[in-house]
Amino acid sequence: MLDPQRDIVLITGAAGAIGTALRDGLRAHWRHLRLVDIKPFQPQSANEQTVVADVADRAAMEAAMHGVRAVVHLAGVLGDYTLEDLFRVNVRGLFDVFETARLGGVERIVFASSNHAFGCYPITERVTPALPPRPDSLYGAFKVFGETMLQTYYDRHGIRSVSLRIGTYRTKPIDQRSLATWLSPGDVARLVDASLRHPDPGCLIVNGYSANTRLKTHDPNWDFLGYKPLDNAEDYRDTLRAAGIDVDSPDREEWEWPEHGGSHARAPERPARRG
Ligand SMILES: NC(=O)c1ccc[n+]([C@@H]2O[C@H](COP(=O)([O-])OP(=O)(O)OC[C@H]3O[C@@H](n4cnc5c(N)ncnc54)[C@H](O)[C@@H]3O)[C@@H](O)[C@H]2O)c1
Repeated sequence: MLDPQRDIVLITGAAGAIGTALRDGLRAHWRHLRLVDIKPFQPQSANEQTVVADVADRAAMEAAMHGVRAVVHLAGVLGDYTLEDLFRVNVRGLFDVFETARLGGVERIVFASSNHAFGCYPITERVTPALPPRPDSLYGAFKVFGETMLQTYYDRHGIRSVSLRIGTYRTKPIDQRSLATWLSPGDVARLVDASLRHPDPGCLIVNGYSANTRLKTHDPNWDFLGYKPLDNAEDYRDTLRAAGIDVDSPDREEWEWPEHGGSHARAPERPARRG
């Protein structure tokens, strides 16, 4: 069991959107935060130690892991990326973070996976983390790779982990789909805090959403983890409607996207070579 007063928690991708929200939520409770990002950033309090490093720099990660008992791995590319960058950061970098953590004696890993790990399931199917993965992209496939590595770490090395299949992290919901998939800044901090504090999560996969009225998944493993989301995207429904966004068609079972992964499930990854 981790001790928030004593144990060092290392967070990768700490200067990013989720990392920043997480630090705001965790720094009052977790007394020793070691923060890694490739872009220069500043500590916000005395209990934050910043390290500017590439997660795919094995020597730098080895050094950063010194004395660490828990890792929250957020660093990654998303949105706009080349496949080479995707592989270098989300596979090679993930491998280096996980391996240096394992070899450094880390006991708990919390991993920012994604709902794109199951994005090819039709939206009409209410999926759960218990179903086999069905990634909608190489981005999603590499998130499944991370989850699979963590299963091996649990079975072979006893390292406990929680993989968070995050939906849409934003300060507010942005479109129809995110009324179902939103994860708020406060709730992402509550989710990671619960993942660090649980005495024995085993090798757990959970859905990473707020308590949205329109959730399209079930049995997200929140009760077992002790995660109690406080926000609900539906509170923003009228604001979105006033901005001209169609938020009412799901009430008639007309969803913006036919699969859980939204636009990812239909976007071309890279054109096939012809001839
Ligand atoms: N934002 C979402 O809706 C969402 C949804 C599902 C999963 N996720 C996952 O959550 C994680 C964080 O997402 P975010 O929204 O905060 O993204 P973000 O782009 O805001 O933050 C990612 C951070 O990782 C850092 N980074 C990138 N490459 C790095 C490298 N080689 N070494 C060290 N640091 C590096 C970036 O500088 C950035 O600060 C990602 O792994 C992403 O795949 C996000």
